[in-house]
Amino acid sequence: MVDSTMDSTWYKDAVFYELYVRAFKDSSGDGNGDLRGVLSRLDYLQQLGVDCIWLLPVNPSPLRDDGYDVADYLNIHSDFGTLEDFKALVGGVHQRGMRIIVDVVVNHTSDQHPWFIESRSSKTAAKRDWYVWSDTDQRYADTRVIFKDTEQSNWTRDPVTGEYYWHRFYTEQPDLNYDNPDVQQAILDIMDYWLGMGIDGFRVDAVPYLFERENTTCENLPETHQYVRRLRKHFDTQWPGRIMLAEANQWPQDVREYFGDNDEFHMAFHFPIMPRLFMALKQRTRKSIVDILNRTPAIPPSAQWCIFLRNHDELTLEMVTEDERQYMWEQYAPDDRMRLNLGIRRRLAPLLDNDQRRVRLLNALLFSLPGSPIIYYGDEIGMGDNVQLPDRNGVRTPMQWDSSKNAGFSDVDAPYVPVIDDADFGYRRVNVSGQQADPGSLWYVMRHMLTVRKQYRAFGRGAFEFALPDNEAILGYWRVYTGDSVPATGANTERFLVLVNLTDEPQRSEIDLSEFAGRTPTDVLTPDQSWPEITEASYVFELAPYAYHWLRI
Ligand code: NOJ
Repeated sequence: MVDSTMDSTWYKDAVFYELYVRAFKDSSGDGNGDLRGVLSRLDYLQQLGVDCIWLLPVNPSPLRDDGYDVADYLNIHSDFGTLEDFKALVGGVHQRGMRIIVDVVVNHTSDQHPWFIESRSSKTAAKRDWYVWSDTDQRYADTRVIFKDTEQSNWTRDPVTGEYYWHRFYTEQPDLNYDNPDVQQAILDIMDYWLGMGIDGFRVDAVPYLFERENTTCENLPETHQYVRRLRKHFDTQWPGRIMLAEANQWPQDVREYFGDNDEFHMAFHFPIMPRLFMALKQRTRKSIVDILNRTPAIPPSAQWCIFLRNHDELTLEMVTEDERQYMWEQYAPDDRMRLNLGIRRRLAPLLDNDQRRVRLLNALLFSLPGSPIIYYGDEIGMGDNVQLPDRNGVRTPMQWDSSKNAGFSDVDAPYVPVIDDADFGYRRVNVSGQQADPGSLWYVMRHMLTVRKQYRAFGRGAFEFALPDNEAILGYWRVYTGDSVPATGANTERFLVLVNLTDEPQRSEIDLSEFAGRTPTDVLTPDQSWPEITEASYVFELAPYAYHWLRI
């Protein structure tokens, strides 16, 4: 059983798994995955080595934005099950020593939410002030439109009263008015409600946009930080050990502010590192990765980054320069259908041409760079995507369990979207049961990396420093943990040198390791492989194409 109060910084060592309930496993036979389906596959997640599951929104919703348009915060969408099912899932997760966080959508609701229905009903409605209304669409003109492909403006005129309401996402997602103290309290109450059901925390959606102020971008405003501090204080006093993970797709110095002084978020996604991992492979140099990590400020000791390769959205190119965005589109989205808003709607394996060497390499970085890694469901077996589906649905297709009908996801003739069935990624070729029967599969490689990662604290908690050999095709960095007691290794210090070859050719270089003369490195991923002893002389090494090593020194 887990007890989050026992180790209140558990999230620093945790491996997260992002799971779209509709896509995972259909237990009711209606073509939609559901909570009971997830419950039935918890053993699978445990075998893989997952510590914490993150569920995409499960509340009732008209699904204009796949549940990020909530119509009732206190219930479960009927496609997914009931509150009883939810509690059973939380129990099942905890029984297995895992944890579970869920999305909480705080910035906006669905236009079908009773709050908005009341708010729009008249200018004098009791909840009029729960949303942001204006008699002109000219206010907050410095604010960008995020869903560029669908929305022309952040304002929509509502025919009922003739006024405009504010929305940072789809028209059907009106923004809540955080200047209203009742809204602030209502969202806090919703969090209490779910925490009371035993969950371990939240992924907090769309954090930067809570407040609006004239002559600003309406992002990352001081008022937002003030509200987050209020939430955190509440967590610290009422819910110790439960966490808030910020979704703030911003530059590192702006996201840094969301950790506050240990008094805002426990965790935050590091968005800008992600596209740069892909960029580095195409450019055959570590430059972009080094740049962004050098631009990433230090964070408070109990805070933690969350890093990821792919998620349920498009591969966002918001946090790159205009030139870099064009480059990424040219390189990774040659077909127009692959592009969406400022991003690329493709999955990990297809992005990497299904080249297993590159898939493994990026995962080896994901599991050893600073932060807690998040695996997007299906990426552990290298699932494909379907760019013919609208919006981001192409990366949200059914989980591929086996080679039976609908990949073992559902018995119905037509699941919510078709299972991937193409030549390279079709379910008969790419599925869990096939990979579990093949010790050389990606699934085993991933599980092995997770197993090894868990034996050390250096990857989740260790200091980070670059170790940069002359050859720029090689990325190297130190992860060093100097804890008091490290029972797993019997030593006090864990020191890793991670070395990766970003190219498809062998690369040689050398590095000064003289301070460790006399020691012999071991790659903890492949301990049978031998490495030369370190001497006073420069340490010369050669890396095979796309090789990665976690060298314990
Ligand atoms: C971020 C979520 O990841 C995305 O899927 C959603 O559309 C927006 N927030 C709006 O809630």
